[in-house]
Amino acid sequence: MTEPHSSTLTRRSIVAATAAGVAALTAAARGEIIDVSAETSHNDHEESGSGTVVEMPFGALEDGTRISMIRMTNARYMEVGILTWGGIIQCLCVPDRDGRIANVSLGFNTASEYEANSPYFGAIIGRYANRIANGRFELDGEEFQLETNDGPNNLHGGPQGFDRRVYDWKDVSKDDVLAVRMSRVSADGEEGFPGELTYNVTYTLTNDNHLRIDYFATTDRKTVVNLTNHTYFNLGGEGSGNILDHVLQINASRFTPVDETVIPTGEHVEVAGTPFDFTKPKPVGQDIADTSSEQINRGQGYDHNWVLDRDGTDDLFEFATLSHEPSGRLMTCRTTEPGVQFYSGNFLDGSLIGISGQPYAYRSGLTLETQHFPDSPNQPDFPSTVLEPGDEYRSTTIYEFSIIDAD
Ligand code: GLA
Repeated sequence: MTEPHSSTLTRRSIVAATAAGVAALTAAARGEIIDVSAETSHNDHEESGSGTVVEMPFGALEDGTRISMIRMTNARYMEVGILTWGGIIQCLCVPDRDGRIANVSLGFNTASEYEANSPYFGAIIGRYANRIANGRFELDGEEFQLETNDGPNNLHGGPQGFDRRVYDWKDVSKDDVLAVRMSRVSADGEEGFPGELTYNVTYTLTNDNHLRIDYFATTDRKTVVNLTNHTYFNLGGEGSGNILDHVLQINASRFTPVDETVIPTGEHVEVAGTPFDFTKPKPVGQDIADTSSEQINRGQGYDHNWVLDRDGTDDLFEFATLSHEPSGRLMTCRTTEPGVQFYSGNFLDGSLIGISGQPYAYRSGLTLETQHFPDSPNQPDFPSTVLEPGDEYRSTTIYEFSIIDAD
């Protein structure tokens, strides 16, 4: 990892975080696990630090476009690095119970690897997260045909989705809360979607180790929008093995089953008595191989949308916890969205070499993609994903990092 190319881009000074801690974070971003326990406990008593936002070069795309990583480092040694390509979270470096920092998100070390190989690692997903059946839908009687890239379907916005675009970035930090905004305009007709969509995604890192992601969009013509982030989490650190020992709870008593092409059938089915029941904390691996379940077979594991047990509002709702006993890391998740796609990394097969030089084995990361339900444009009974001119699309998801209670 190279050092910042211009010190004038450092917008905030480090107060509580020590130089050793920052060096450790830089190393953790490279995939090394670093012990900063002494500094971390020091910081627990001194939280006046305001952290830093630094732009660093991250190589170039095939066409020569230069990519940056915007690195936010808070006063408690948590670091989030966002790329100007795809708005990708390349680094999500979080301490474990002993203060050792590891990158808990899968990814690559170079822009060219992301461009050539990435299964959406860490990226903004749009214009429509997950699948639209046959890449087709109607609005006011007019039919739109999208690009298809998953058998007959449109997946994650198409072959050139929001994960494969260059973004403008801006430091929108306020006081001691670090925030970086990625912005772009998606042209009318891009990947087949109607309307020019002006959108931005803001990543906020607090000194409580919360990563908040706010999505915002407007359109000049009626369209559909469904934005998410596709970070693959491994709370043991990327490259450390599979996620079958992670304990997951999802506050959802129903899920949307899928057909053979992984398109929702339109039903809401109770999770009780099925491998999809995560209403109480359960190891991800416990029922994942239950091949008596047709739905497990169709998803090749978990790759489904859970219908969150919301209270009828679109307030922030705690929808999941993910914990990892060996490291002590705990992630608590909140969202304003009605659904979450829990995907258990079923298509990882060891062929991709990640940040720390380790192959990403089968199920070595999992995603919790907050969203409106897949294929909603073709499912009249699902919550609407239509955005009208003059209206604002807003969505928020927060991933909060802490340590499992000792008792
Ligand atoms: C989503 C989809 C999966 C798969 C992954 C990326 O989670 O639902 O089927 O495409 O993205 O590989």
